[in-house]
Amino acid sequence: MVTHVGTEADLDELVEDLIKLDLAAIEAYDSAIERLSNAEYKGRLQEFRADHQEHTRVLGAWMRQQGRNPPDGAGGKQLLTSGKVVLAALLGDKRILQAMKTNEEDTNTAYERAVEHADVDDDLRGVFAKNLADERRHRAWIESQLASL
Ligand SMILES: [Fe+2]
Ligand SMILES: [Fe+2]
Repeated sequence: MVTHVGTEADLDELVEDLIKLDLAAIEAYDSAIERLSNAEYKGRLQEFRADHQEHTRVLGAWMRQQGRNPPDGAGGKQLLTSGKVVLAALLGDKRILQAMKTNEEDTNTAYERAVEHADVDDDLRGVFAKNLADERRHRAWIESQLASL
């Protein structure tokens, strides 16, 4: 499954779904960090998890400015290819990183779409672009590790 997040015509809905996607990513990170054996991988994934938290914080502040409450959970829909349920069944650092790479592909896709949204002003586009840069960095690091595994 490739994520649908980023295809929302309505900007409010897009931001709400991006927050849910980042919350789903955080849950997947928790599961991955717990299951990885390599301490360096764990440390790096903690950093990436913190980036996702920052994404939810900044997008949540934007929603509050619009007079709406940000979501406090990922919700019931499957937003990521390898969410926490998939991660919980995986063993081995390579398989865990492969699963996290599919999730980063989803977050990259969602933010690539978001920066192109027709109704976004420059401030919010700047937020999307910053988040996209983080997602690209996450994916690149995972890919570089997988290349040597
Ligand atoms: Fe994120
Ligand atoms: Fe990420």
